Amino acid sequence: MEKSKVLIVGGTGYLGKRLVKACLTQGHETYVLQRPDIGVDIERVQLLLSFKEQGAKLVKGSFNDHQSLVNAVKLVDVVICATSGVHIRSHQILLQLKLVDAIKEAGNVKRFLPSEFGTDPARMEHALEPGRVTFDDKMVVRKAIQEANIPFTYISANCFAGYFLGGLCQPGSIIPSKESVVLFGDGDIKAIYVDEDDIAMYTIKTIDDPRTLNKTVYITPPKNILSQREVVQIWEKLIGKELEKSSISAEQFLSSLEGQAYAEQVGLIHYYHVCFEGCLTNFEIGEEEVEACELYPEIKYTTVHDYMKRYV
Ligand SMILES: NC(=O)c1ccc[n+]([C@@H]2O[C@H](COP(=O)([O-])OP(=O)(O)OC[C@H]3O[C@@H](n4cnc5c(N)ncnc54)[C@H](OP(=O)(O)O)[C@@H]3O)[C@@H](O)[C@H]2O)c1
Repeated sequence: MEKSKVLIVGGTGYLGKRLVKACLTQGHETYVLQRPDIGVDIERVQLLLSFKEQGAKLVKGSFNDHQSLVNAVKLVDVVICATSGVHIRSHQILLQLKLVDAIKEAGNVKRFLPSEFGTDPARMEHALEPGRVTFDDKMVVRKAIQEANIPFTYISANCFAGYFLGGLCQPGSIIPSKESVVLFGDGDIKAIYVDEDDIAMYTIKTIDDPRTLNKTVYITPPKNILSQREVVQIWEKLIGKELEKSSISAEQFLSSLEGQAYAEQVGLIHYYHVCFEGCLTNFEIGEEEVEACELYPEIKYTTVHDYMKRYV
């Protein structure tokens, strides 16, 4: 089967650049949206040029120019969007409604993967304010996709390793301490950690796979389903030293939100749901959903242990 041509939107982002790399690695004709809006952001421009050197094609297009998006979408079979959705960086999830309009008008796209790549928003109806905005906005985009009858795949990628392992699951920290750690309660709630390059590789695997059409795909590497305490133990073994441990209760954690900036509060609520409630591991994957490590056993994913070696 011929490999789909792919347009990546948000290609210079934290996940986007990995999607571009994975798409090229897996042999797809790869197009990357080049937004004139980035102006003289030299790092983004240089990154785009490096994609071109590696074989990607740059396509000019802006969210402020509908026709430019339609023209870009018409070049490909599959569109993957990795627009920002982390408040402490940038949150532009609803911008994708413009992309949905363009895909609808173009009428040729066989699969659209919107910017999701985290906790499944369909399972977060109960999420607390203000963190729920991320899930609510992603659901608004899903609704638009489905109303426009656009074939889709939703990637539920669980925890980006860089954020969660980097901080030993503590918000506001992305380099693990060699001295101490604050545990969420007993630190026994399980979460799922995924190397961002692996997320990109699994994502690209799904795009031509009929088993993932109109489905949610969870990326759940079996060896990476661990509690915070287990993550800390792996780190302690790597550095040959025990950390000093203290603990914060759910009530203390929630009351610490008061007075924090909005963007920080959004992130903290996400940590609350993952690390206190166990929202990534407290359900079974349904019959209408699929799991990436089972679908693609040929991908040798990075274990938590191997990921954390970089910080020693
Ligand atoms: N599961 C997790 O732990 C986790 C962690 C982080 C993120 N995520 C999710 O992953 C997805 C991608 O996040 P990310 O952190 O990779 O994003 P990011 O690097 O912050 O941004 C991605 C891209 O968004 C585009 N963008 C930002 N502001 C824009 C604007 N005003 N107008 C148009 N485009 C704009 C840019 O695209 P250009 O390249 O075109 O300039 C940027 O490169 C999001 O859905 C997020 O929620 C999940």
